[in-house]
Amino acid sequence: MAQSNDALWGGRFAGGPSEALAALSKSTHFDWRLASYDLKGTSAHLIALNAAGYLNDDEHAALNKAVAELAKRVEAGSFTPKPTEEDVHAALERGLIEIAGAQLAGKIRAGRSRNDQIATLIRSFMLDAADAIEEQLLNYLDALCTQAEEHMGVAMPGRTHFQHAQPVLLSHHLLAHAWPQVRNLQRLEDWRRRANKSAYGAGALAGNTLGLDPKLVAEALGLNGVSENSMDATSSRDLVAEFAFVLSMISIDLSRISEEVIAWVSYEFGYAKLADDFSTGSSIMPQKKNPDIAELARGKSGRLIGNLAGLLATLKGLPLSYNRDLQEDKEPVFDSFDSLMLLFPAFNGMISTLTFDRERLESLAPKGFSLATDVAEWLVKQGVVFRDAHEITGELVKFCEDNSLELDQVSDEDLQKVSKHLKPDLRKVLRVSGSIEARNGAGGTSSSQVVDQLVSLRKLTKAKRS
Ligand code: ARG
Repeated sequence: MAQSNDALWGGRFAGGPSEALAALSKSTHFDWRLASYDLKGTSAHLIALNAAGYLNDDEHAALNKAVAELAKRVEAGSFTPKPTEEDVHAALERGLIEIAGAQLAGKIRAGRSRNDQIATLIRSFMLDAADAIEEQLLNYLDALCTQAEEHMGVAMPGRTHFQHAQPVLLSHHLLAHAWPQVRNLQRLEDWRRRANKSAYGAGALAGNTLGLDPKLVAEALGLNGVSENSMDATSSRDLVAEFAFVLSMISIDLSRISEEVIAWVSYEFGYAKLADDFSTGSSIMPQKKNPDIAELARGKSGRLIGNLAGLLATLKGLPLSYNRDLQEDKEPVFDSFDSLMLLFPAFNGMISTLTFDRERLESLAPKGFSLATDVAEWLVKQGVVFRDAHEITGELVKFCEDNSLELDQVSDEDLQKVSKHLKPDLRKVLRVSGSIEARNGAGGTSSSQVVDQLVSLRKLTKAKRS
């Protein structure tokens, strides 16, 4: 049950591969996506072949024309791979032969291998993908900054262990979700320095004997340099894993804010409302307005983590140099990229259209004895040792709980009963705004610190965009 061989490697075989092998081996259905990168790689390779004297100028020009023509046909969809073609490389070689003839197009494969090709193509793909992701990340940061700007001065409960802890500004909370994504942007920038290298010239594993200059290829591809080791160039996929990690981290950071949005728009919290066009209804419960975008974001992060984990498992234990296992690197990274690109526009829309209930946030900010730390620190300023201040404040909280009072509802006499140190002057720190503005150290929640944060974020995103 052998089938005809459209592959690039028929010579030493008496028959084609079995249908079962061909089906298993085939990657065209997903690596066709790299066709435009493969053609750019071919144009670059032609320069090296010409420079080394394997193509004269006329041949070079004719092949360049053929590549351009094929690129047009691929783009227009009039040239597509045959079902029997193993991969993008095989299909495109046929395309070039159809246009330029076997004699001329047959020269192109000299000095390159699918191994150095694919290692370079996936990098070129990821570099473009990184641009697109960065653009979406910047839109997300803008959405957070705009919400933070519009809600300057609104207090809310800050939590630890999901319990009321200390009041914070809503803007401070929102911007706390911006900085991890800034770090993800920086991770992409840093990754780019490593990914920006061509594997061309590595051949199958050991380099090539034809004296082709890989720098010419790298230059033509707009890449910054050439891999230092041909075996490493063709066999490592750490750059793919690293990219998949950054995409996973981006999705995990989106998942974290999603979890909060889901809580915020619940009846019990009532912190915020979702816009109609960024929420969904229920087929049976007419009253429902569901945070599906946030839930899908949370769900997709699991998928991206899976893509990364699968890829890492594929790489573990691979001996040098190229192994066919490496074909499994592409689908996970395509999927992570596509998932984020699908998610981001909806997610950014959801964030920019959230409407917060300022009164509710403000009224909840002091609840749950969230000003207790301020009481303890006020006592310290009166000269009480912090250990004692902590103890006294704890007793005051207990007194409030026993009598169903908030801290600011305790009378002067009762304050004195709890501790002689609790003088009426204490009341001035029992205000949310006082508590917030007092936290004026670098990175604190006071309004001037939050304004500083906003200014740096806006500066950062503007610089990144230009
Ligand atoms: N489809 C292969 C991959 O993605 C291309 C390289 C094939 N090389 C080989 N020696 N069969 O890794």
